[in-house]
Amino acid sequence: MADSTLTALSRIHGIVSVVGSMNADYTVTTERLPKPGETINGGPLQILPGGKSGNQAAAAARIGSMVQLFGAVGDDANADFLLGKLGEAGVDTANVLRVSGPSGTTVITVDARGENTIVYSPGSNAQVSVEYIESMRGRLVASNVLGLCLESPIETVAAAARICHEAGVKVLINNSPFIPALPQELIEVCDILLVNEHELAQTLGVAEPEHDDWSTFDWRSALRRLRELGFEQTIVTLGGDGSVVLDAPAGVTPIAPVAVTPVDTTGCGDAFMGTVLAGLASGFELHEAAQLASYVSAYAATGLGAQASYGTAAQIEERFAER
Ligand code: RIB
Repeated sequence: MADSTLTALSRIHGIVSVVGSMNADYTVTTERLPKPGETINGGPLQILPGGKSGNQAAAAARIGSMVQLFGAVGDDANADFLLGKLGEAGVDTANVLRVSGPSGTTVITVDARGENTIVYSPGSNAQVSVEYIESMRGRLVASNVLGLCLESPIETVAAAARICHEAGVKVLINNSPFIPALPQELIEVCDILLVNEHELAQTLGVAEPEHDDWSTFDWRSALRRLRELGFEQTIVTLGGDGSVVLDAPAGVTPIAPVAVTPVDTTGCGDAFMGTVLAGLASGFELHEAAQLASYVSAYAATGLGAQASYGTAAQIEERFAER
């Protein structure tokens, strides 16, 4: 099973577009996360390349997709840093805007178990306008798949989704940072929803299962309810427990996790999404793309930072091949 999924890495091709955010992640490791009002000691400050969209783009490019990223950086030192790191990953940033003001930033704390807290300051990401997206129409519709998250203005996200959806380009949206009620006009032009288990519970307005035991969750009724809300296909990530693909006619498909000892889970969800984008652009079924994403995101959990922890196809194959 591991081998046949991993060999899919050699079949990655196609064009992925990502519209959205780039952030400099100001990251400090600590033994444990601080409580409200508490001061605790941490390690040295590290400035790492991040932003959900930049991360998704980097993950897809590292495993072999052609990726174009659309968004905005500021006129600070972080701008060149972020574009440079994306370029190293193989992402085409030629159409990224440079605007005045700071680039997107986050403040991140990572504890000894690899858990994190993140505070996001949009900076230049707030300046990604509908007009800019309209001007990129030709490039967007030339792609096989579009990836979106909600670190950019919602009207810009909706414009990109509409342009691509109407041109037959598959649209995958990550509802993160989470918005409880996505606008209906956005839902209508998104083909696939990606959320984690907590976001799923909030989307459906249901309680999370006791002891975080999602094996007891009524996934069939979740699928039914999601389709009523307008989401025909959904992937729910479950952290270290894998993921679940919900679509029709396949129904509920559990995707096995890939066990690793986590160093830092920052950006693992983005590595997962980037891989799903890469898989879909390559013509994989959704469950095949999600299974491959288990490996790619597990690899990402074994290093500090988001993009800094992402592997190439060769590195990921080598890490997991002998399992
Ligand atoms: O998902 C992880 C990302 O969220 C980080 O890189 C940070 O920039 C925030 O956007």
